[in-house]
Amino acid sequence: MRSISVAIDGPAGAGKSTVARLVAQQLHLTYVDTGAMYRAVTLQALKRGIDVTDEGAVARLANQMDIALTPADGELDVFVDGQRITEEIRTPEVTTHVSAVAGNPEVRKILAQKQREMGEEGGVVMDGRDIGTHVLPAAELKVYLTASIEERAQRRYNELVQKGYQLDWEQLKEEIRYRDEQDRNRQHSPLKPADDAVHLDTTGLTIPEVVQAILDLSRTKVGGG
Ligand code: DC
Repeated sequence: MRSISVAIDGPAGAGKSTVARLVAQQLHLTYVDTGAMYRAVTLQALKRGIDVTDEGAVARLANQMDIALTPADGELDVFVDGQRITEEIRTPEVTTHVSAVAGNPEVRKILAQKQREMGEEGGVVMDGRDIGTHVLPAAELKVYLTASIEERAQRRYNELVQKGYQLDWEQLKEEIRYRDEQDRNRQHSPLKPADDAVHLDTTGLTIPEVVQAILDLSRTKVGGG
């Protein structure tokens, strides 16, 4: 029997990746972090000195890259051409440049195709910005996660401080606002909820509460879980 697919979309810092990973664990599905794929392309472009706004060059790079997402100790390891880049893709430098790569229509085509292949048998929880609308439009459950900008900035702040980064709070909030705007207003596959997505505002909710809400939805909506 084909397993279900769950699409989780929403803006930066809404808690998608943590929640999607835990939901996948609970439902025994495979977690696919599509943002990590855009980040992997961005990192490789930066490493090779390719201008991230050079659409042709970045698309050629994305086409040649072998990106693998491998579960490890409850987390997800990211490999490019066999090299582990799990931590490197989360640096502020990659975060600053990733919007340009995510706005590149050829790159989106290439990565969306890879993501569809990963989800074609079902059995995935995939998070991103265009999963319910473009990548897996037939997903059995689509969730659109949001949270207030203050809360999203606070979560990112805590996460990065824990990793040892020193940050300016107002600047971080501004960066999230900027990325939201880029994601929502780009021409190709902008961030927007699918018509049949369930909206879940996670402001003030704990991670276990959000996970439980999605597990409940998976039971009521698709009889899974
Ligand atoms: O979720 P994240 O912050 O790791 O995503 C990194 C960037 O990639 C973000 O600017 C939005 C973009 N992205 C996208 O455009 N489409 C996706 N399916 C996933 C991420």
